[in-house]
Amino acid sequence: MTDQNSTGAVAGQSAPAAGGTRKVFVKTYGCQMNVYDSERMTDALSKDGYEPTTTLEDADLVLLNTCHIREKAAEKVYSQLGRLRDLKKARAKEGREFMIGVTGCVAQAEGGEILRRAPAVDLVIGPQTYHRLPEALKRAKQGERVVDTDYAIEDKFEHLPAPKKAQTRARGVTAFLTVQEGCDKFCTFCVVPYTRGSEVSRPLAQIVAEAERLVEAGVREITLLGQNVNAWHGEGEDGVERGLGALLTRLSQIDGLARIRYTTSHPRDMDDELIAAHRDLPKLMPYLHLPVQSGSDRILKAMNRRHTAAEYVALIERIRAVQPDLAISGDFIVGFPGETDADFEDTLELVRQVGYAQAFSFKYSVRPGTPGAEMDGQVPEGVKSERLERLQALLFEQQTAFAAGCVGKEIDLLLEKPGRMPGQLVGRSPWLHPVNIDANGSEIGDIVRARITGAGPNSLFAEAIG
Ligand code: 5AD
Ligand code: SF4
Repeated sequence: MTDQNSTGAVAGQSAPAAGGTRKVFVKTYGCQMNVYDSERMTDALSKDGYEPTTTLEDADLVLLNTCHIREKAAEKVYSQLGRLRDLKKARAKEGREFMIGVTGCVAQAEGGEILRRAPAVDLVIGPQTYHRLPEALKRAKQGERVVDTDYAIEDKFEHLPAPKKAQTRARGVTAFLTVQEGCDKFCTFCVVPYTRGSEVSRPLAQIVAEAERLVEAGVREITLLGQNVNAWHGEGEDGVERGLGALLTRLSQIDGLARIRYTTSHPRDMDDELIAAHRDLPKLMPYLHLPVQSGSDRILKAMNRRHTAAEYVALIERIRAVQPDLAISGDFIVGFPGETDADFEDTLELVRQVGYAQAFSFKYSVRPGTPGAEMDGQVPEGVKSERLERLQALLFEQQTAFAAGCVGKEIDLLLEKPGRMPGQLVGRSPWLHPVNIDANGSEIGDIVRARITGAGPNSLFAEAIG
C-alpha cells in the first residue's frame, strides 16, 4: 500500500463540542488502509460518547494509528509519543483525563515493547482487534496497561459498528472501503505479512452492504482497499468463487455510485477478468497502481516478486490494449541489497518503457525480521540517495509529461471540496490529479463536464463546458 499520508491526517471533522462530551484525536500515519481503519475506530468509539476532534488540546483520548513499512515511519511514532507524554503531565496537573493509545502496524510489530519505551502509553491495539477498542479502553481507564495484538478469530468487520449517516457525510463524497487485508506474498523487503497477517478477503455481501450504505449517505466514489486488493476472492451471488473483477462488476451496479477505484495491486494477481473490467466498466476509473519495485530480474528474484521485468511490461501492454486511456502508477525501491549500477539502470529502462503517470519511490529501509535485513550487499546510504534522485527526476519528467498531455481533454469531474480561491472547487481527474475549477453554481458531489485548460506541478486546471 502506498504511503500517501506520511504527514498524518485526522479522521473525522467535527468541531469542538460543548463541555461534557469526550473527544478523540486520531492521528493517521502511512497508507490509505490506515485512513480507513482510523475512521472505523472513530465509529467504534462513538458508541461510548467519543466525538472526533482535530484539535489536540480538546482531546481526552489520542490514538496514533501507526505505520511500520519503513524505519522513518516507525521512528516518527516515538518522537510523537515524547510530545504527548509532556501533554499528559500537564493534564494530570489540571486533574484532566488524557489517555494515549497506539494502534496500527507499529503496535502489531512491537506490542508490549511500546509500553516499556513509552511509559505514558495506556493501550496498544493491533490492526486485527480494533473492534475490541472500547473494551480495551474501559480496562485502561481502570488502570490496566492493555496490549491486544492477537489475530482475532472473529471477523472484526462484523463487530465494528457502521458510521452514522451524518459522520459519513462529514467525511465527504469519496470513501475508502477495505475489502482485503494482509499479504501472503512475502517480498523479502516487506513487513506487511508480519504486521497485517495472511491474506483475508471480506465476503462480497458484506462489502456490497457497506458500499450501499456509503452511497445512501451521499458518497459518489469508492476506492476499494487491500494490501493485495487484486488478490480479493469470494463467492459471488451465484455461489461461484470469483475475483476482484466480479466484485467490481457487482459494485458498479449500485445506482448513485459514480466511480470506483482500487489499490494496491500485485502483478501476479492481475487476472483476465480484472483486465476485462477495465474495458467493460465505465465506472471503473482508468488508473492502476501496480508496483514493480525494480526493473532488474536479479533484484526482482532476490525480492521474491515472482515475476520478471519483461512479464510486468507485457502485462501493462495487455491492460493498455483494452484501456488505452489508463494512467499507470507504481512503487519503486532503490538500493535493495545487492543492487548494482547495472541493476539500477534496468530500473530506469523499465520506467522508460512503461511511462508512469504517477509513482512513489523509496530508499530500501532495513526491516528487522524480514529476509532482506539478513542479506549481504547492503547498499551504502549515499548510493541509495544518488539513485533515488536520478529515479525521481525521470519519474517527475514522466508525471509532468502525462499531466501536460491531459490539457485540452474533456473529462467528467467529481467535485470533492472547496478550492483555495473563493468560488473555486477541487475535484479529481479520472487519473487522480486534483483539478481546480470555478464552481459556477455547481456543488460538492456534482459531476460536471469540464475541459482541462492547464497543468501545474501538483494539479490541473479546468473550465466547465456544456
Ligand atoms: N524499504 C523501502 N520501501 C519499502 N516498501 C515496502 N517495504 C519497504 C522497505 N523495507 C515500499 C514498497 C511498497 C510500498 C508500500 O512501500 O515500494 O510497494
Ligand atoms: Fe509487502 Fe510484497 Fe505483500 Fe506488497 S506484495 S504487502 S510489498 S510483501
